Amino acid sequence: MEVVKLHKKEFVPFLSSELIQNAIEAIADQINKDFAGKEVIILGVLDGAFMMVSDLMKRLKVNAELTFVKLKSYHGDRSSGSVNEVLPLTEVIRKKHVIVVEDIIDTGLTLAFLRERIMQFNPSSLSIATLLLKPEVFQDKYPVEYIGIEIANKFVVGYGMDYDGLGRQLPDIYVAKE
Ligand code: IMP
Ligand code: MG
Repeated sequence: MEVVKLHKKEFVPFLSSELIQNAIEAIADQINKDFAGKEVIILGVLDGAFMMVSDLMKRLKVNAELTFVKLKSYHGDRSSGSVNEVLPLTEVIRKKHVIVVEDIIDTGLTLAFLRERIMQFNPSSLSIATLLLKPEVFQDKYPVEYIGIEIANKFVVGYGMDYDGLGRQLPDIYVAKE
């Protein structure tokens, strides 16, 4: 892995694809146990979660439907606090076991907004799976059920996550160079 340059900002290797895949496998194992004999619906949060959704779903043994919501809450490398439902939720999640799949949870503001919206569809249950979580800044009042890797409060790219639109294609995760 080498230094990656996006919009003139440099990023260095942080989490290898092997580490990422192991974390996803652990989440899948847990979901397979927790929802054994049930049907779930995976709700991927676009754009960042597309890789995570793909790799997680391949490991699910429980029957799983798939849907997406597209939220916009981030500008540059700082959380803006305002969330937009660009591709809205639909009725497919009504009365289902909904598992939200996120690439990364930072402050939790996006999640808090989404949780409220999802609850309007009366899901049978709602749980959250995220590849990464930043515990130092996370401030939602509800717990996150499935966490892949906890990281420090640093800006990362790769594996679906972007810096102003770039970096999503990287199979490994990189962190902004200090
Ligand atoms: P939150 O609302 O602060 O939890 O931010 C959540 C969203 O911000 C995530 O779904 C990402 O799209 C984006 N985000 C937060 N931290 C990072 C990061 O370190 N790199 C890239 N995107 C991030
Ligand atoms: Mg996201």
